[in-house]
Amino acid sequence: MKKLILAAASIAALAMIGPATAQSPIIIKFSHVVASDTPKGKGSEKFKELAEKYTNGKVKVELYPNSQLYKDKEEVEALQLGTVQMLAPSLAKFGPLGVREFEVFDLPYIFSSPNALHAVTRGPIGKDLLAKLDAKGITGLAYWDNGLKIMSANKPLKTPDDMLGLKMRIQSSKVLEAQMKAYGAVPQVIAFSEVYQALQTGVVDGTENPPSNMYTQKMHEVQKYAAITNHGYIGYAVIVNKKFWDGLPADIRDQLTKAMNDATEYTNSIAQKENDDAFAAMKKSGKTDFHVLTDAERKAWVDASKPVWKEMSSRVGQDLIDQILKVSATTN
Ligand code: LMR
Repeated sequence: MKKLILAAASIAALAMIGPATAQSPIIIKFSHVVASDTPKGKGSEKFKELAEKYTNGKVKVELYPNSQLYKDKEEVEALQLGTVQMLAPSLAKFGPLGVREFEVFDLPYIFSSPNALHAVTRGPIGKDLLAKLDAKGITGLAYWDNGLKIMSANKPLKTPDDMLGLKMRIQSSKVLEAQMKAYGAVPQVIAFSEVYQALQTGVVDGTENPPSNMYTQKMHEVQKYAAITNHGYIGYAVIVNKKFWDGLPADIRDQLTKAMNDATEYTNSIAQKENDDAFAAMKKSGKTDFHVLTDAERKAWVDASKPVWKEMSSRVGQDLIDQILKVSATTN
């Protein structure tokens, strides 16, 4: 009898373990194009850690950094097809998806300060922009910072006049195309994973990047000069396949939302330091000569940038530009 009870108990125990072990975790493939040692790389690692913790292992996040899985354009297509679930493309890469308004973030010198930028991304303007992704089968979850771009080339750069005729790599943004043309340069869209080689082989003469991207892709080894123009911003929208997101059990979605909120706070708290450290490391390497602009030189960049706002107003929306300028004017 005792044996029978024991046998029944172990069958019952097995039955309980059975379905639990058979239940495989929900997989989130998170693909991106930068190195792990960057604000976005570290932010995605933080999200993985917290998502797996908050869901008690019911969700597993697989990270694919450095264009390992997809390059710039392919990753957005893959998200829509559902072959990856999560991405964090730069805001300059949403135009080809048909949401051109995001390119407003590329307008040179549009944000008066980091606080002004954050008032936009964390306020109603940022929220409305993310909502525009819904129609594309995408849910926007958060904005992550990288930093301000510096201009680099293989010849000294002090003012926009020095850009005349230079072939410059850009992201796939029409605003960046107009910006480079306004400076007299010849823009060329190249996927991020191919920039180092394009610079090394002379396919292009220069590019623009925040220090963290420049350093982690070793671009400083193939760019002799850079000017600290801080003319534009690179940041990201973290996005997820809408069908996948809406199909998650509500409790899991809540836990993932919390993981994303915490990871966002973390990413945005380290971004500036990541860029400062990368800049210090590049300076120390001595491979690139970094020029600090005088006030007059800075004014020349600002003045050369202004026509771009007007030229691109119909693309990104004059209303949106005005709203951002209003927020900027009232935020210090
Ligand atoms: C670039 O292509 O230069 C950036 O968008 C890369 C990135 O994701 O920061």
